[in-house]
Amino acid sequence: MRPVLRAASIVGARPQFLKYFPLARAAERHNMEHPQKPVSDILIHTGQHYDYAMSRIFFEELGIREPEYHLGVGSGGHGAQTGEVMARTEQVLIKERPDMVIVFGDTNSTLGGALAASKLHIPVAHIEAGLRSYNKKMPEEVNRVLTDHVSSYLFCPGETAIGNLRKEGFKIRSDSGGGAASADNPLVVNVGDIMHEVLLHSMEIAGKSPVLDSFSLKSKGYFLLTLHRAENTDDPERFREIASFVNDVSGGKTVIFPVHPRTGKLLENGNPFGENIKITGPMGHFDLLKLLSESALVLTDSGGLQKEAFWLEVPCITLREETEWVETVESGWNILYKDYTGPHSPSAPNTCYGDGKAAGRIISVLAGGR
Ligand code: UD1
Repeated sequence: MRPVLRAASIVGARPQFLKYFPLARAAERHNMEHPQKPVSDILIHTGQHYDYAMSRIFFEELGIREPEYHLGVGSGGHGAQTGEVMARTEQVLIKERPDMVIVFGDTNSTLGGALAASKLHIPVAHIEAGLRSYNKKMPEEVNRVLTDHVSSYLFCPGETAIGNLRKEGFKIRSDSGGGAASADNPLVVNVGDIMHEVLLHSMEIAGKSPVLDSFSLKSKGYFLLTLHRAENTDDPERFREIASFVNDVSGGKTVIFPVHPRTGKLLENGNPFGENIKITGPMGHFDLLKLLSESALVLTDSGGLQKEAFWLEVPCITLREETEWVETVESGWNILYKDYTGPHSPSAPNTCYGDGKAAGRIISVLAGGR
C-alpha cells in the first residue's frame, strides 16, 4: 500500500539521533494502529558526526535502523559544512521526491536540510521549533531562526517556544489536525519535548549500566561536566574562565568530564582543569544518563543535558550566558553560571515540556488529513 506520507528525515549530529528514535517508534505504532494510512520515511545521515562514539553507538544502543543515505559530509567551517549538507541533501531529495522533510534541533545539518527542501518546494517539518537564545553569535541560534522561517510545520517543545514564534509574527492556529500547512501558512503546535520520551525509554536500560563502578563512584558523590559549545571552546580566555569556575565550584570533589572531540583537541594544548576533574572520552547514551542520574550536580553547556537533569531532578549549572530552556531556570533546577552563588537544592515541579508523548502527536499531525 502506498504510504499516505513518505517523508525524509535528516539527522547528522549526536542529539539528532536521539530525537529521531521516538519519531521512528511513533511511526511504527501509527502503522500498526492505522494500517490503511501508513507513513514511511527515508533516513538521511549527513555525516556531520562520524566517529563511532559520536554517531554509530547511538544507532546501536537505541536500535535505530541503518540510514538509507549516508552523505559523509564530515567536519568543516560553518559555510562549507552547511553548504555540503545542502548540496548533497538536494541530490537525494531530487531523486526520492519525498512528501515532506523532517529536521531536528539547530545544527548545521538542520539548516542545510531545511534549505535544500525549501528550495525544492518540499514542506519542512521542524522538530524543536521556536527555541531562542536571542544571541545570534551562536551558530545554533542562526540555524534555528532560519529553519523556523522556512518550515511548514513547527513542532514546539513548550509554551515559551510558542511565545517566541508569536513575537516573530507566526500565527498560532488552534487546529492541530489537518495536513494543510505551508511555509506561507505554517502550523505551529506545542507537542511537548521529544527528548522526554527518549529519557523515559533509556532510563530503564541505563539503570543497569556499570559506569559508576568503572569510575569507582558512589551515588551523589561526584559531579558531571560537559563542555563543547563553540562560544566556550573557540576563545581560549573564555575556556580558561569556565575551567576556573568549574574548579572553584567542585571544591576538590570528583568531577567526571566526558569530552567532545572539539574540546579534546583544545585540551591537547594545555589542561586548565584541576586533578579532581577526570577527563574521559565521549560516552554512549545509557552510561551518560546513569552518570547524570546519580550525580550530585551537573555543569554543562549542552541543551539536552539541561533538560535531562531537570527531568531526573539533578541540580544543573549552565555554563552559558543564557539558555533557551528558560523553564528549567524559572523552576530553580537550573542556574546560569554567572548567577551561581552557592549550592542549590530546588524542589519545584518539573512537569513542563509535556508528558513524553511528543512523537505520537507529531506523527498524527503529519499523517492527519491525508
Ligand atoms: C554540533 C552542533 C551543536 C550540537 C552538537 C552536539 C552545529 C553548528 N552545532 O556541534 O549545536 O550541540 O553538534 O554534539 O551544528 N568532530 C570529531 N568527530 C565527530 C564529530 C565532530 O572529531 O564525529 C570534531 C570536528 O572535527 C570538529 C568538532 O568536533 O572540529 C566540531 O564538530 P561539529 O559537527 O562541527 O560541531 P559540534 O561542536 O559537534
